[in-house]
Amino acid sequence: MGFRRRRGGGKGQAVARAVGLRGAKIPPRVIDLTSGLARDSFVLATLGCPVLAIERQLEIHQLVADGLENASQDPTTAEALGNRLQLFHGDAIELLKEWPHGLLAEFAPDVLYLDPMHPPRPKSALPRKEMRLFRRLVGEDLDQELLLEAARATGVRKVVVKRPSFAAPLALGVSSSVPGKTTRFDVYLAAT
Ligand SMILES: C[S@@+](CC[C@H](N)C(=O)[O-])C[C@H]1O[C@@H](n2cnc3c(N)ncnc32)[C@H](O)[C@@H]1O
Repeated sequence: MGFRRRRGGGKGQAVARAVGLRGAKIPPRVIDLTSGLARDSFVLATLGCPVLAIERQLEIHQLVADGLENASQDPTTAEALGNRLQLFHGDAIELLKEWPHGLLAEFAPDVLYLDPMHPPRPKSALPRKEMRLFRRLVGEDLDQELLLEAARATGVRKVVVKRPSFAAPLALGVSSSVPGKTTRFDVYLAAT
């Protein structure tokens, strides 16, 4: 992550452009509804976005909380993060049911971000060991359409979904897409 922070392309990288960081006077506040190992959250937080990252798998949440605790002991990383990354253990679908009240609404996000588990790549070699273990813990996120629906129902202006480049959008109504190297960021804008 340190390497990516230094050399990952800064505000020009796809995830940053998708949430609207490039050209923004004030970095957008982002809720990452599917934290996972919080790599995307980390990138956005180090680029200036206040981020609330939600993870429902306790083991994954604890692993990231431990990583964040270690990061706070490292002056360079702590300074880069600037206390902008908060973690929360819970199911985002359940938490979104409390909208317009509760933790998520109180954070007053500009963007809701989702990166649910990707479908397996067609005809690909066995994924890396790290990814196989992750998938065994987390499963397939079979409720990902429901999560997107719940996110869009909040009326938050921008919902961003990360998808593998080969996969179709998770739902109709994509306003624009930002291509990455092997992934794509589909942006859903709320009607104003
Ligand atoms: C592909 S990973 C996310 C990777 C992450 N973007 C990163 O950069 O490390 C998907 C994660 O979302 C979590 N997840 C899926 N649906 C969720 C939900 N409804 N609430 C909270 N976490 C969820 C899964 O448990 C899994 O850890």
